[in-house]
This record gives sequence, C-alpha cells and structure tokens, in this order.
Amino acid sequence: MPSVFLKTYGCQMNERDSEAVAAQLVAKGYSLAPSEAVADVVLLNTCSVRDNAEQKAIDKMTNLAGQFRKQRPGVVLGYLGCMAQSRGKELIDQLPDVDLVVGTQKFHRVADYVDDLLAGRRDKIVDTEEERGSEATIKEHLLNGAAKGKAVSAFVSIMQGCNQYCTFCIVPYTRGQERSRTIPDIVAECRELVARGVKEITLLGQIVTSYGRRDKWQVTGDTSAAPLPPATCPLSPFVQLIEAVHAIEGLERIRFTSPHPKGYGDDLVEAYARLPKLVESAHLPVQSGSDRLLKLMHRGYTRARFLDIIRRLRAVHPEMGITTDIIVGFPGETEADFAETLSLAREVEFDNAFVFKYSPRRDTPAAAMPDQLPEEVIEARHAQLLAVINEIAERKNKACEGRVLQILVEGPSRKNPARLEGRTRANKIVIFEGSERHIGQVMDVRIVRAAPFTLYGDPAIMNLTE
Ligand code: 5AD
Repeated sequence: MPSVFLKTYGCQMNERDSEAVAAQLVAKGYSLAPSEAVADVVLLNTCSVRDNAEQKAIDKMTNLAGQFRKQRPGVVLGYLGCMAQSRGKELIDQLPDVDLVVGTQKFHRVADYVDDLLAGRRDKIVDTEEERGSEATIKEHLLNGAAKGKAVSAFVSIMQGCNQYCTFCIVPYTRGQERSRTIPDIVAECRELVARGVKEITLLGQIVTSYGRRDKWQVTGDTSAAPLPPATCPLSPFVQLIEAVHAIEGLERIRFTSPHPKGYGDDLVEAYARLPKLVESAHLPVQSGSDRLLKLMHRGYTRARFLDIIRRLRAVHPEMGITTDIIVGFPGETEADFAETLSLAREVEFDNAFVFKYSPRRDTPAAAMPDQLPEEVIEARHAQLLAVINEIAERKNKACEGRVLQILVEGPSRKNPARLEGRTRANKIVIFEGSERHIGQVMDVRIVRAAPFTLYGDPAIMNLTE
C-alpha cells in the first residue's frame, strides 16, 4: 500500500486533526512514511493564524513540488486545514503541482480523496465546503504506531469554531461557527482512550468556555456517576462535560485548552477545587494588558476582570500553573498600552507565555485599522516583553528546586531519549532517569535542578505512589 507523510503546522487542534487523518489513512491500509522523501503522498496540515505560518507551509510545498516534479511526478501533494479553508482553489492556481486542498470541515474525507487521486479517478480535488455535524468527525486516534509512551496523554476535540470575532483573528473564518459535540459522544471517545491506556485527556476547542452554549441538544443536569462534592453555582455545559469525563474510572488527569476569559465563570474556577483530576494548570489568553486595546480587539473583558479570574484561580490553588498568549504591536498600540501589558505580565507572574507579533490577517477588521505599527517597533516590543516573561518563568522554575512534585510519566524525553519525561500537575516538564515501567505512572519526584524551561527530578528519592 502507498505511504503518506503528514506534516503539521500550528496549534494542538491541528495536531489532533492530523492524528485523526493519519488514523483514518492507516485504517484504510496506508502506511505512515518516516520522511517526505520516500512518501507516495505528502500532506501539509496548515495554520493561518499568522502570516509566517502560512509562508512556511507555502515554501515547503513549493520546495516539495520542485523536488518531485522531475524525479517522482506521481507523488500526491495536498494542503489540509486552515489555510486550505481560507485560500481554497487559489493554492492550486498558484502551484499547479498541488493535487488536493481540503478544508477544516472535511478532514474525514481525506483518505477517500487520496484513494481517488492515486487511482487516477480524479485529477484535482478542492473541498472547502461546510458540513453539518463535522465537529463530531474527528474521533480516530493513532495511539499505537506512535512512539512508545505517547499513548499516556491524548487530545480530544470537543467543539469546532469560534463566534467571538476578535478583530485580529482569522479563526472564525477558517474554523467556522461554534458547534459542539454532545457529552455522551465525547465521553464515549474518552472511555475508549482510557481503555487503551490513556491517563490524561486534554479537551480541545478554539473557545472551550463556549462549549455547548449554542447547540440545540440539551446537556443533562446530572452527568456525574462518581460522588463529587456538589457545586455551589449552576453548571455551564463545559463544566458539566468536565464532570462527566471526570467520572471515567482509570483516567488520572484532565486538562483543557483554550478557554476565553469572557466565559470563565465561577463554576469553572470552582471545578478546580472540586474535581481532583482537573489538574492545577490554566492556559488563559489575555492578548493585552490595556483596556483600550482589549476593546479594540473585541475581547469582551477588561484587565480588572482578567486579574480577578487569576486571583480566584490562585485562591483555589496557590500553585496553579498559569500561562497565556499575548499579542504585541496590535494596530494603534501606544507606548502606554504596551506598558500596561508589561505591567500585567509582572503583576500576574505567568509561568510562561506565548508572545506573538501582530500579523494582519485578510478579512479581519484589525487589518484595516489605521496606525499599523512599523516592524521595528513590533520587534522591539516583542523582545522586551519576552525578556520579562522569560525572567519570571525562570524564577518560578527555580522556586521548584528542592520540592517534591507529582508527575505523570509520558515517555522518553524528547531532548534525551535515554531519560524519561513527565509533567507536573501545573504542566511543567520534568526529566529524570527511570525505566520503561514508569511510563504511564503517576509518581512523586524531588526537583533537584531547574533549567529555564525544564525541571530535573532525582530518581534516588522517587516514590512510586501507585
Ligand atoms: N497576529 C498575531 N497573533 C495572533 N494570534 C491570533 N491572531 C493573531 C494575529 N493576527 C495569537 C493570539 C492567539 C494565538 C493562538 O495566536 O494570541 O491566542
């Protein structure tokens, strides 16, 4: 059977989509090629969130096309995902070697399309249509075949799309309107993963705090089979989902990404206190510390509201690992606005943050705003904020030295495969010397050394909790 090489750009949702596509191809008998050089089919799953992500995929495809044109003209080349959705047929017009363009609602059709192209039944395929129910089609997992230990942690897609329409963001146009899968459907997938050895599940969506809010199906008031402490406030559909997943026996940890501060209710803060499997880690994109910019960005919250969420999360768990996304150089960002972002970063003391240079995206309101900032200003602010973020991150990592932290062992370390790697509940990576039997275990390690982005645990005093 032919082999497929699949390269992914962008976020965890894209990783998850690629995994589901790979699983579908494998189920049809395709093998996964170790590199593009030996593959019969090369698929790039693309990202549109910033211009450089698009350029990377376009450059890659242009190189591949040049390479294969003479030597292996039969290789099928395809773009999948967000850029495929937003650019569609234009991608083939620009590079006629491309055979396949599949948008974000059609991942489940990729294997059939590849069949058709390889068999010569069709010449070029572009499918960027909307499809009812497509949010529930990203289900298959490739747990085996992958590197050992990979199956410890899995992503589960719970919804698609976003209706927030932040003025800088292309996602509502690439991923469409919010649509959520039902709780029973998601729980069934999680159960199957746990039965296959998964210990940690990360619930994924572009705006998980909006989960189930716009869907016609009814969430039930009582989804929990396990005796949980009762909530003191009404539960949003998202917290009902977390409760339902929490009830799965054998599951150790639950994470989710990404929530939106606007929908971050008391019930979600309280869930961290009530539900022990929901680990003490929150990725909460703030984007800016300036109220004026938050408004221009159409974020729907103020700096004070964001700080209040952080305060309440830390009141529940002082050790909560908190990370964020920040954009620098949004149109019209003044020195004073930027100073507000710097001061917010210092005030919150994020464990880490992704700092992005604003990138104008087609069809978004911000791209047409006056006062687009010069590249040098954006570069300088990016470097300045990153220095602050890194300094705080290192300091917080250092503070872990000497402490005993619970980790879930995921597998061989990516940096040094002779060692193992796990994550603390607060989502910090810990590297230590252990043996294969530790993979998938929840255990305590003492942190002996902290590097800027990694912690090192001491195997001598490891204490197996299970
Ligand atoms: N320019 C720069 N960064 C962006 N992001 C989203 N859109 C843009 C843009 N146009 C960032 C936001 C978001 C993260 C996934 O990407 O910070 O949270």
